[in-house]
Amino acid sequence: MNIKQMVGEKAAEYVEDGMIVGLGTGSTAYYLVEALGKRVKEGLKIKGVTTSSRTKEQAESLNIPLVDLNDVEKIDLTIDGSDEISADYQGIKGGGGALLFEKLVANASEKVIWIVDDSKMVIRLGAFPLPVEIVSFGYKQLFRLFESKGLKPVLRLDDSKEIYVTDGGHYIVDLHLNTIENPIELAAWLDGLTGVIEHGLFLNMVHTVIVGHEDSVEILDVR
Ligand code: A5P
Repeated sequence: MNIKQMVGEKAAEYVEDGMIVGLGTGSTAYYLVEALGKRVKEGLKIKGVTTSSRTKEQAESLNIPLVDLNDVEKIDLTIDGSDEISADYQGIKGGGGALLFEKLVANASEKVIWIVDDSKMVIRLGAFPLPVEIVSFGYKQLFRLFESKGLKPVLRLDDSKEIYVTDGGHYIVDLHLNTIENPIELAAWLDGLTGVIEHGLFLNMVHTVIVGHEDSVEILDVR
């Protein structure tokens, strides 16, 4: 069994009957959704809130009942992947392009679990390019601003080399920062820019991290 499958299946054990569950996006969350599909087939009663069109399609194919984010008071538990997790458990997400819906779902959740293999655990964030979702109208203005600040922006393209468009209809610029000295400051600056819809800094958000190693699974209860 590969590591992503190990942590995906482990995380599925946290899901209990009656829960509303946020379903993450990405190649690790894929295994979580598969495992939940299996448990639903065996009788588990849950409702899922998806974080992307991809995950929605997968959940529907497994007959996992879904509910719209608008129609829930709160989500009991969200399980998602992450691109990087620092020593103080701050995260970068959005490598798969679903950061906006992922953050909306995480913000509505009582508990958040991230599932990763140990290559995602770092001392400091930033080696993974930071995704920033921006309005398509006049996007080059923001792009130039990022350039002028030395943030090394790269406009994200899809497999056919067209501009990548998110589920929300926006573009993504990946900032190649190498290292992020102060994630809280950077997040606040990005939050204040007109045209920035959301960024991939997920700060003070995760409750439990499930880390997969070659032949073991480690549970880190963060808060
Ligand atoms: C999707 O937008 C991302 O936030 C993913 O959750 C994250 O990139 C982790 O994906 P993988 O499990 O595919 O590495």
